[in-house]
Amino acid sequence: MKYSTLAVHAGQYPDPLTGAVNVPVYLTSTFELTGIGTDRGWDYSRAGNPTRDRLEESLAALEGGFSGHAFASGMAAIYGLAAMLHAGDHLICSRNVYGGTERLFNQIVCHYGIEIEYVDTVNLEAVAAAIRPNTKLIHLETPTNPLMVLTDIHAVCEIAHARGVEVSVDNTFMSPVLQSPLALGADIVVHSTTKYLNGHSDGLGGAIIGSRPEHKQRFQMVQKAAGGILSPFECFLVLRGIRTLPLRMKQHEENGRAVAEFLAHQPKLSRLAYPGLASHPQHALALRQQRGFGSMMSFDLGSREAAGRFLGALKLFTCAESLGGVESLAAHSATTTHVSLSDAERESLGITQGLVRLSVGIEDKEDLIADLDQALAAV
Ligand SMILES: Cc1ncc(COP(=O)(O)O)c(C=O)c1O
Repeated sequence: MKYSTLAVHAGQYPDPLTGAVNVPVYLTSTFELTGIGTDRGWDYSRAGNPTRDRLEESLAALEGGFSGHAFASGMAAIYGLAAMLHAGDHLICSRNVYGGTERLFNQIVCHYGIEIEYVDTVNLEAVAAAIRPNTKLIHLETPTNPLMVLTDIHAVCEIAHARGVEVSVDNTFMSPVLQSPLALGADIVVHSTTKYLNGHSDGLGGAIIGSRPEHKQRFQMVQKAAGGILSPFECFLVLRGIRTLPLRMKQHEENGRAVAEFLAHQPKLSRLAYPGLASHPQHALALRQQRGFGSMMSFDLGSREAAGRFLGALKLFTCAESLGGVESLAAHSATTTHVSLSDAERESLGITQGLVRLSVGIEDKEDLIADLDQALAAV
């Protein structure tokens, strides 16, 4: 089946008990046991819930994985991923990933005796050189948040697999519609379902999609043992969002391209980063590994004051964190998504005080461009 069909039908078939066309929300913490040690497939909602099962089935189908696992947020999913590692293991992570991922690795996971090393994964030689005998996982984010830097997933997987190392990819920015990391060779995909998958900015969520039976065993254990699972109602919201994901992504894509082309001609900004523009240094890689370019982009207005004037003047774009919803958002990365980094770290990554990130929604593109135009006039 193709994407639009999978989005509507995978995991979303009529309820066998009642025929309900929509997936029922099983608001129950526990399930009647049929005898000592026997049940109808569910015993306690931390371990499994029928609504969550359906979402997990849908996510696995969309990513072409063996199993899906829904978590309470994107960060809970990445924490679940880190739970694969043991003391003494070495984790390689892309440079300039979402700030919350670095905060989790640097302030929590590192205390478990896991060595974390940030590598410029654009540079394949650097990836090969960083692998050690105790390296267990390479975690990629591509494109990165907010600088839209791409990593060649297939090439990194070839290097990693030759040395017995697994590769995970945070696919939040592309969604399963625009990029399939598992098909490119990755072992595990993670998502913040808070973003495009849900698509309506009305619930946090996260997911891990594994490619092999041992991943299923591992991540089911993490869900049951650590408990950071997604509630049945929020599973329902993500399932509902998924049904229109391919349609929404088409509109995000069309608007993203139009906005980027408009911004490319604006003299008041620099460092416009959108992989769909021929001027993006990795445009060829984007064409090869993605099925589109999405609607995330960033640019530099030169100073915090200019960024403040621009954000303050926007009328249709809302100045807010997060991304991937139907509504357009604009964010100041240095004080939001990457606030947990030091000034020096942000500076070395290029996350300047003048940097603004856009999540272009699905409104009419002419209205979005008019809003950006009038806000740029205020800078
Ligand atoms: C790429 C990426 N991964 C993970 C996360 C974390 O997701 P959540 O906010 O759902 O915990 C975010 C949040 O912005 C993100 O942008």
